[in-house]
Amino acid sequence: MNESRHISTELSLSEAWKRVEGRVRTAVEDGSHPFRTVALATADKTGSPQQRMVILRNFTDDSVFTVFTDNRSDKVDQILENSSVSLLFYDADEKLQLRAAGKAVVIHDGEERMRYWNSRGSRNPYSYTSVVAPGTVIGHPREAYRWGEEAPSNFSLIKVEATWMEFLQLGGVRHIRAEKRIRQGVERIRWIAP
Ligand SMILES: Cc1cc2nc3c(=O)[nH]c(=O)nc-3n(C[C@H](O)[C@H](O)[C@H](O)COP(=O)(O)O)c2cc1C
Repeated sequence: MNESRHISTELSLSEAWKRVEGRVRTAVEDGSHPFRTVALATADKTGSPQQRMVILRNFTDDSVFTVFTDNRSDKVDQILENSSVSLLFYDADEKLQLRAAGKAVVIHDGEERMRYWNSRGSRNPYSYTSVVAPGTVIGHPREAYRWGEEAPSNFSLIKVEATWMEFLQLGGVRHIRAEKRIRQGVERIRWIAP
């Protein structure tokens, strides 16, 4: 473990948060970073939690997480019905957990979406172009292996604007935990007993 990047009790609260957020930004650029994959939790129409892994595509303003999805997927309907979501990251090498919660929006049109579509990594002939919509019951896995022309029609962004974030740095028995609350652009950070 690189001690200079580690969250330690020597750091101030704001320095610790800067490091955690730096990790998230690094993950956007580094496909092998543990924070690159994140569990996204939504609520289904019965109110039950539903989680799935997604890939983190961007992290902006130290609070907005962007992921890509197929607009036909269940998570999109769930977010349209209830925009409250949470995200869960874990870096096993650094023993660092990050949780975030807030409101999600699904973006299915506009210039920003096309910018992402045209950027490296999002455009792929097998992504978002399956003939059979995600979640459809099929008789055999092979039935789903048909793709239409490469087109952005099913490509959507999910942007999660966090109003609460919390990290937990494991450290033997001396763990370090802190939260951040963001209301109307104003951040409040606090240490929390682990
Ligand atoms: C490592 C990993 C990364 C994934 N990344 C994405 C992603 O970025 N976007 C996405 O929509 N689904 C992604 N998936 C698939 C989802 O976990 C999920 O199976 C799919 O989106 C359907 O979820 P839903 O029915 O809840 O909408 C990923 C799965 C794994 C295992």
